Amino acid sequence: MKEKLEQIKTSALDVLKSAADIDALEEARIRFLGKKGELTAVLKGMGQLSAEERPKIGALANEIRSSIENHIDTKKSELAAKLEEAKLKAEVIDVTMPGKVQHTGELHPLTKVMNNIKNTFIGMGFEIAEGPDVELDYYNFEALNIPPNHPARDTQDTFYINDNTVLRTQTSGIQIRVMEKTKPPIRIIAPGKVYRSDALDATHSPVFHQIEGLVVDKGVTMADLKGTIETFLKELYGESTKVRFRPHHFPFTEPSAEADISCFSCGGKGCSMCKGEGWIEILGCGMVHPKVLANCGIDPEVYSGFAFGMGLERVAMGKYDINDIRLFFENDLRFLGQF
Ligand code: DAH
Repeated sequence: MKEKLEQIKTSALDVLKSAADIDALEEARIRFLGKKGELTAVLKGMGQLSAEERPKIGALANEIRSSIENHIDTKKSELAAKLEEAKLKAEVIDVTMPGKVQHTGELHPLTKVMNNIKNTFIGMGFEIAEGPDVELDYYNFEALNIPPNHPARDTQDTFYINDNTVLRTQTSGIQIRVMEKTKPPIRIIAPGKVYRSDALDATHSPVFHQIEGLVVDKGVTMADLKGTIETFLKELYGESTKVRFRPHHFPFTEPSAEADISCFSCGGKGCSMCKGEGWIEILGCGMVHPKVLANCGIDPEVYSGFAFGMGLERVAMGKYDINDIRLFFENDLRFLGQF
């Protein structure tokens, strides 16, 4: 009987050793320790043993049972650990893998710069004004103190629809439309497309954008003009940008000036961007001509104002270091995707 018990132990340990999963373990438990299992079968024959042998065999049987039970337990936790490990391995996430890029559309660089400019002026209390692209000669020229024989009306530059209608060559006409309708104080910017019969090349386009600005109130001076323009240009090009004003001439402002900024490429030392000058011309400006105020029914003895105008493409080309205006209109995604 003792031998039989030892045999059961050996074969049980063998079976357990090679058990590959929890099911195999359970099968082995039933086979050796179950109610109808091998160990139970042997113990059933205990009755035939002598009183002397019985406790010894009983003790041995118990020992073997708990040994097999221990092995099953150990094996069970081994298998469970392996299972857990395999599961973790299968579920592992490689956080270094490149993500999937969702390509969304982007704003056109001109729109971005336009928004930027609008926001800066809105922050200074300006409102946005609009005017028509197809404009009367009166607003585009006449009311702006540009008489019929002025060179700005040259047919080389202006697209005439008929004798007194043009495609606006500048956004300055919106000043007149606003002043006709609004009592001072006036603080507006007016963005829009303008048209000139220029041949398309790296720096000219027959259609481009301008942004006009106008402030009219009592006691507005050249100092207000300079402060506003300087604040705006520093906001757009960076706090370290220097701004200078040069005397100039526009028919609708007196005095007139052009504003330059220190070159954003070389910082003012002189480079190919600024043609060695260290300065880049950005906008035209001046104090609204008394005649222009009067044309709109605003008394120049009571009110004064300043105006300014700039080309959006030129501003954007400077800001993003773009050397060809045509890139804005070709809509090549390789270009547009860079902003
Ligand atoms: N309209 C001018 C141009 O096309 C730009 C300009 C200059 C606008 C001076 C203004 C200004 O309002 O005061 O060149």
